[in-house]
Amino acid sequence: MFENIILEKDGSIGIIRLNRPKVLNALNRKLMAEVSQALDSLEKDDEIKVVILTGNERAFAAGADISEFREPKGPEMLFKYRFLEWERVANFLKPLVAAVSGYALGGGFELAMMCDMIVASDTAVFGQPEIKLGIIPGAGGTQRLTRLVEKHRAMELIMTGKFIDAWTAYRYGIVNRVVPVENYLEETKKFVRDLINGPPVALAVAKDTVNKAYELNLKEGLDYERKMFYFLFSTEDKDEGVSAFLEKRKPDFKGR
Ligand code: CAA
Repeated sequence: MFENIILEKDGSIGIIRLNRPKVLNALNRKLMAEVSQALDSLEKDDEIKVVILTGNERAFAAGADISEFREPKGPEMLFKYRFLEWERVANFLKPLVAAVSGYALGGGFELAMMCDMIVASDTAVFGQPEIKLGIIPGAGGTQRLTRLVEKHRAMELIMTGKFIDAWTAYRYGIVNRVVPVENYLEETKKFVRDLINGPPVALAVAKDTVNKAYELNLKEGLDYERKMFYFLFSTEDKDEGVSAFLEKRKPDFKGR
């Protein structure tokens, strides 16, 4: 059904594999449209509780497909390259974890940063090399990376285009875990296991509320959090979670 990605299910885990290995999973518009479609279907699928976005051992993705950058000038880019499919990744409602091995460069790094968490293999390499093409990151790199690692580190990565390895990314707070490359996908599945039995509505609200911390000032963010906290008191999952705790049993969340 898809040409540039592989969509798999492993129990409650949806797995989207970027699959243009000959060009290190360069992200052309077709591939991103397929990612967006796959996310649409996984979001509607009640069996799926969490999604892993991954590539292959050599490359998560080496960036936007540079061959699509040769012709268009600014005005054409404005209308044709609006990154709408990319925004779909950032707006996905269920927990979304990137399993990164090899290159995560340019748009590949930006795509990983749109996920909620990142598990990296010990061979992962991150970078924003757009400056070497005479441009800057265009899918959120200047904003998300700066919020993740603070100004001077972001400036260094974006202004020099230099790459960092998995452990440096860990030290910078970009990745949650560094795991052996031999079984990085299995390790990522273990990593997401806790999310599978979580309360789906509260998980969606949790990711939305944390993301709001990047958009709102502290007062607005605290107000938003409080409203969402009250909202969760209208869910059956809250009744189940509280009862299960008091009755000393495991909760059985239904996503209602
Ligand atoms: N777009 C299109 N093709 C790409 C690509 C990309 N981003 N990255 C790699 N490829 C292709 C190469 O052209 C090559 O194709 P051929 O075999 O047909 O020549 C193939 O993938 C393998 O790549 P290399 O031979 O270059 O492999 P390498 O091991 O020598 O180098 C690399 C690996 C350092 C990742 C190098 O490929 C590279 O620098 N790639 C480009 C990285 C980059 O600049 N990314 C940013 C893109 S712009 C962007 O992403 C904008 C944005 O913010 C959205």
